[in-house]
Amino acid sequence: MADNRLIVALDFHNMDDVKKIVNQLGDDVNYYKVGMELFYSVGAGVVEWLKTQNKNIFLDLKLHDIPNTVAGGLCSLMNLGANILNIHAGGGYTMMKTAAERLKIEAEKQNIKRPKLIAVTVLTSINQDDWQGLGYQSQMKEQVVKLAALAKNAGLDGVVASPQEAKMIKEACGDDFLIITPGIRPAGAAINDQSRISTPAQALKNGATHLVIGRPIIAADNPREAALKIIEEMKSA
Ligand code: C5P
Repeated sequence: MADNRLIVALDFHNMDDVKKIVNQLGDDVNYYKVGMELFYSVGAGVVEWLKTQNKNIFLDLKLHDIPNTVAGGLCSLMNLGANILNIHAGGGYTMMKTAAERLKIEAEKQNIKRPKLIAVTVLTSINQDDWQGLGYQSQMKEQVVKLAALAKNAGLDGVVASPQEAKMIKEACGDDFLIITPGIRPAGAAINDQSRISTPAQALKNGATHLVIGRPIIAADNPREAALKIIEEMKSA
């Protein structure tokens, strides 16, 4: 049976590949992430198609602009019917608060279910060298937790963060706050950069509510087998 905590990233640029993998994974996967590569290639049709397949969708477009523009952009995206939308916490408190409020008002006006709105804290690809290059004085982990708390205070439903930061975020923001973690590799997988990456079981034990997994499933020789193995690993958390 599908585990809704698993979100498979559809990092493709055409609908044929999307349909192939979604059909291969069948009822074992219910949640998919549509990111920039796919959305910019095929447009909104992919969200509509996934909905016809009764799938949940995390539309990962990471909006980052002035408050009015982000809020307007989110209201446009809301009409597509994705379950989760996201913005960059680096846009600041006012941007996040405006976005959350406008989305709520617009959903009420249209009498539709408001999608969850989450914030990207610090991109999980940022390593210590990148961090120093950006000129930050604080520790990256401290900043991630600060941004998560800021997102919560602004009325957001959760964050995207590294699995290794999930524990601190959970402690700071509570059990109801979504913690969606990419950078997951199955136990035993070869990993080049260990710094902000975890296995499915570690991430869940640390407090992640959802795992975003792409290549370990979509680039596997047998994607369904790879997904089932990961779902088994998730059970052990
Ligand atoms: O690496 P993988 O193929 O599992 O990536 C799946 C998704 O997770 C990608 O779409 C990417 O946006 C995100 N990701 C991330 N940080 C990482 C690795 C992946 O945000 N360190």
